[in-house]
Amino acid sequence: MKVIRDMQEWRALRKKLVGSVGFVPTMGALHAGHASLLERSVARERITVLSIYVNPTQFNDAKDLAAYPDTLEDDLQLAEQLGVDFVILPTYGDMYADGFRFQVEENQLSRSLCGADRPGHFTGVLTIVMKLLNLVAPDRAYFGKKDYQQYTLIRDMCETFFMNVEIVGCETVRELDGLAMSSRNKLLDAETRSRVAVFYDVLSSASSDKAAILALENFGFKVDYVETIGQRRFGAIVVGPQSEKVRLIDNVVIEAARGPGRSFLQGDKNTTTVSAG
Ligand code: PAJ
Repeated sequence: MKVIRDMQEWRALRKKLVGSVGFVPTMGALHAGHASLLERSVARERITVLSIYVNPTQFNDAKDLAAYPDTLEDDLQLAEQLGVDFVILPTYGDMYADGFRFQVEENQLSRSLCGADRPGHFTGVLTIVMKLLNLVAPDRAYFGKKDYQQYTLIRDMCETFFMNVEIVGCETVRELDGLAMSSRNKLLDAETRSRVAVFYDVLSSASSDKAAILALENFGFKVDYVETIGQRRFGAIVVGPQSEKVRLIDNVVIEAARGPGRSFLQGDKNTTTVSAG
């Protein structure tokens, strides 16, 4: 496995690679969720590239950015074990030589769900992902459905801009108690960690979005949103003591379609979008 910090070196190297290239972009603090994406790529592609870059333009809270876990040594060890070929570690100067002058903005889906609570978040995500995809030029890039809204936006961006890459969506990997794996779980204190598994249970089993919100509030969580679109229920909660607030998101496919259909979330093979009513 080769670890590359110099993006000019990477671009020269990329030109010489032969065979299919799979790409997994991450912000590090790798866990089994990231590992599942890397495993899919390693199994299918001739070459797998992992990027680790904590992208400041997608954080709208400086505290959240400062608290983001950094476990680079462990990340590199895991990547090596999984058979990753290249790890690229770009810097802010590499990714934003333009000073964020150029941006990719989406005007519909990015304004709802996580976008409503985090203005500018998806512009930061789409901009960095387009840059990374151009830098790596993969045949396929692997994204987790844990961040389903992000996955959909990236898939649609690539289609819209005729980008030469296939976006592969991968199922959410969960802890034994159902909690979706997330780098942010590392920030939870033991007491909060023991209580947050109900987030998944409530999203999966509540009879309505309203019932889910009430149940989560009764458990003492601040609810940013619970919303069902088609057959998928999305939720975001803020947990933990005042000084160490952590925001968690999740989504589940629910059996009976309860929400209004929305065309921009169509296209997921597991999801049949239905019309309102
Ligand atoms: P990050 O949160 O590090 O996630 C990197 C990839 O891992 C994303 O595609 C995410 O959906 C996937 N992932 C995270 N937890 C997962 C889980 N429990 N199961 C399956 N997949 C999971 O998402 C980002 O970074 C950034 O926004 C990025 C795309 C890198 C742009 O900066």
